[in-house]
Amino acid sequence: MKIPDSQSVDHLNSIQHELDLITNAGLNRFRRALNFCPDGSVLYRNKKLVNFASNDYLAFSKHPAVLHSARRALNSYGVGSGASPLVSGYTKLHRALERDIAHWEGFDDALVFSSGFAANLGTISSLVHPKDLILSDSLNHASIIDGCRFSRATLRFFKHKDCDHLQNLIFRNQGKFRKLWIVSDTLFSMDGDFAPIEKLYELTLKNDAMLILDEAHATGVTGDGARGLTDIFPIDSDWKSRIIKLGTLSKALASQGGFVCANKKIIKLIKNKARSYIFSTALSPVCVAAARTAIKLINKDDTRRDLVISLSNYLRKNLVEMGLDIGPSESHIIPVIFGNTEKTMRIAKQLLELGFLVPPIRPPSVPVNSSRLRISVTAFHTYDLINDFLLKLKVVLCQL
Ligand SMILES: Cc1ncc(COP(=O)(O)O)c(C=O)c1O
Repeated sequence: MKIPDSQSVDHLNSIQHELDLITNAGLNRFRRALNFCPDGSVLYRNKKLVNFASNDYLAFSKHPAVLHSARRALNSYGVGSGASPLVSGYTKLHRALERDIAHWEGFDDALVFSSGFAANLGTISSLVHPKDLILSDSLNHASIIDGCRFSRATLRFFKHKDCDHLQNLIFRNQGKFRKLWIVSDTLFSMDGDFAPIEKLYELTLKNDAMLILDEAHATGVTGDGARGLTDIFPIDSDWKSRIIKLGTLSKALASQGGFVCANKKIIKLIKNKARSYIFSTALSPVCVAAARTAIKLINKDDTRRDLVISLSNYLRKNLVEMGLDIGPSESHIIPVIFGNTEKTMRIAKQLLELGFLVPPIRPPSVPVNSSRLRISVTAFHTYDLINDFLLKLKVVLCQL
């Protein structure tokens, strides 16, 4: 069938109109093609930059043991898995990783997805029924929100970390829904603050609800056993019958992929229903092998996460002493909030010229008037490097 030229021109005009709106609002998104260096820095247009924009928190992406296991898997299995896990993409390595995760997290069972995004999308949408109510923290990650929407349940947002508001919403909706689900990130990715998970759990029990927690940024760094904020609960108590725990392999575990831990029956249901699991190629065995080794390393030695935590404390303290607004950050994710988007973009650009890659984050990723630099501290960093960054940031701010 021949489409008249005028129709395709109209279509492209409307696309261009939408692009113009994005550009005119100063919200055009772009990417930089980088080269990665062995010391964790990056090369951009032949300039070496300290990378404050990576979620490779424990610097495991370059760890010899992680690389070795990834190479071994590459030699045995090849690059890709070749099919969905339910067809032929599921290997002995995948099964071993799921057992490792379940054992480490102290859950009955675990399921590995091809990304953290897919894990949230698939888990929430397959467990939550259209007749249910989901109460979600207003700053939850996009993949949680999409999972909630995809479930077709009624979705309401409670004010960020506000358990009184949450309790109020529960009270107002009592008896109207089949089941209640409370959903929250544990470490919020744009503000670096922690969810009040004990209080969330208390409300979960009190209201016969289920609690879904996404530990994406906390896994590997936070908690006594580095499993995230849920480490505050005793490993062998029965909180796990009420909590579904999500995580990603793509941040502190330096690989790619996502996972969910839960009761065996819940995992079985997700396996049978989650479209992002069933209709997507299984995670590459190379990533599976790398993640398994990263978990072993985390269990063997705390040195890297101790470094990340102490560097983060030091950086937060110094930024506050400079009179900067770091929001509610209490972790290795540290925003420096300037509010104005144009000013934030200018500061990020000048830092780039001085050798530091610090991403500016603008709406819609964060609320209007809260544009910020988002600093991720990793085990590639040192005190000298942080001091140099603080000095250069002072210079940039003085010149504004
Ligand atoms: C809280 C949270 N959950 C899930 C994801 C998605 O994880 P992945 O990048 O592995 O898809 C992210 C990604 O940044 C995240 O910040």
